[in-house]
Amino acid sequence: MNAKILIVEDDLESLKLIGLMLQSRGYQIAAAQSGPQALSKAVSESPDLVILDLMMPGMDGYEVARRLRADPRTATIPIIILTARGQITDKVAGFEAGADEYLVKPVHPAELITRIESLLARSARIGPTVQLPRGKTIGFLGCKGGVGTTTVAMNLAVSLIRGPASGKKIILIDARTGSSTLAFQMGLRPQQGLQVLAGREPHTLTADSILAHADRHASGTLLLGGLPEPQGLASPLTPAHAQAIVQALAETMDYVLVDMGTGLEAVSQALLRILRYVVVIIEPHRVSLLLTQALLAALDNLEVGRHRQGIVLVNKAPTSMTPSKDTVEEFLQREIICVIPPAPELAFQSAERGTPMVIMQAESLISIQFNQLAQYIAAL
Ligand SMILES: Nc1ncnc2c1ncn2[C@@H]1O[C@H](COP(=O)(O)OP(=O)(O)OP(=O)(O)O)[C@@H](O)[C@H]1O
Ligand SMILES: [Mg+2]
Repeated sequence: MNAKILIVEDDLESLKLIGLMLQSRGYQIAAAQSGPQALSKAVSESPDLVILDLMMPGMDGYEVARRLRADPRTATIPIIILTARGQITDKVAGFEAGADEYLVKPVHPAELITRIESLLARSARIGPTVQLPRGKTIGFLGCKGGVGTTTVAMNLAVSLIRGPASGKKIILIDARTGSSTLAFQMGLRPQQGLQVLAGREPHTLTADSILAHADRHASGTLLLGGLPEPQGLASPLTPAHAQAIVQALAETMDYVLVDMGTGLEAVSQALLRILRYVVVIIEPHRVSLLLTQALLAALDNLEVGRHRQGIVLVNKAPTSMTPSKDTVEEFLQREIICVIPPAPELAFQSAERGTPMVIMQAESLISIQFNQLAQYIAAL
């Protein structure tokens, strides 16, 4: 059957024009003239794609996109924003709200059709891998080694359980068998959990059999890691194991947080296909920003939608030359969701004692930032 496209447009003339053009190409059409109508038709009509206007009275297109993404029934429908607003800030906001494409009116019919066809082909290709599990699955990926990826994942987990996710079940996974440092940084004895799980068939892994190898941290978060082994000698998880572990845990846990370290090796690529959100950890240095640009472009190529990405800037050791948040945002053309300030003394003591910073100094500036990040993540 031909694909069905939901056109969301408050101007009746434009609506008819786009509708007739698409019908003449064989598409089925559904139409909505307001945000609320768009949301209800996105469920009742099960469209294969949505074309969304931004400027509508009442609920605007950004809000419609955000709500479509937030609802598991509509979260994976491709969205093309088609608008008269051509500013770069509008475009960035559109992608952040969840759009897959952003086209500025007037658009040539041939271009619109090309974009529609490529998005439909892409969702046919990705298919069921984008199914959303019950728990929030969130990856942490550094633009390079040592930027603070593990520190952010660990302090965020504790901030969540002590704040907006109190009473919820949270597990932190150290996905890098071998170079795992998470257990040390949390003051726990490393266990061979991941090494044991890597020796089993992925399809036999259930939440219970995985949780038997997890440790409980004093804060209440669980931890699943492995024994340290030099890289190259370590037997890493296979992509199938990594996916199976995260998917099984997401059935019973409220949050599954994965320290992915750096780089986009096969395990990380497999994880990116199933994680609901990825936090990219960056630092405000020239070389790191160039690596970040390459990483963000790679995430786009791997079809990790912009609404599934959040950037956290860790400012470990600022100098008078360190670029500001605004400068970094301008350079990357992306919004930063949180800035973690420098705390060298606290970071050192925290590492020495194996106690996360948000526990050592709950009132410090850095803890306040981690708490804000926790609020942001809890609201996803
Ligand atoms: N905001 C901060 N201010 C000062 N130092 C920090 C800050 N955040 C982290 N650090 C320190 O930076 C070092 C690296 O942190 P962390 O281990 O989290 O980085 P990573 O990116 O996970 O590294 P790896 O690539 O080894 O996994 C640690 O010594 C940590 O204590
Ligand atoms: Mg680390």
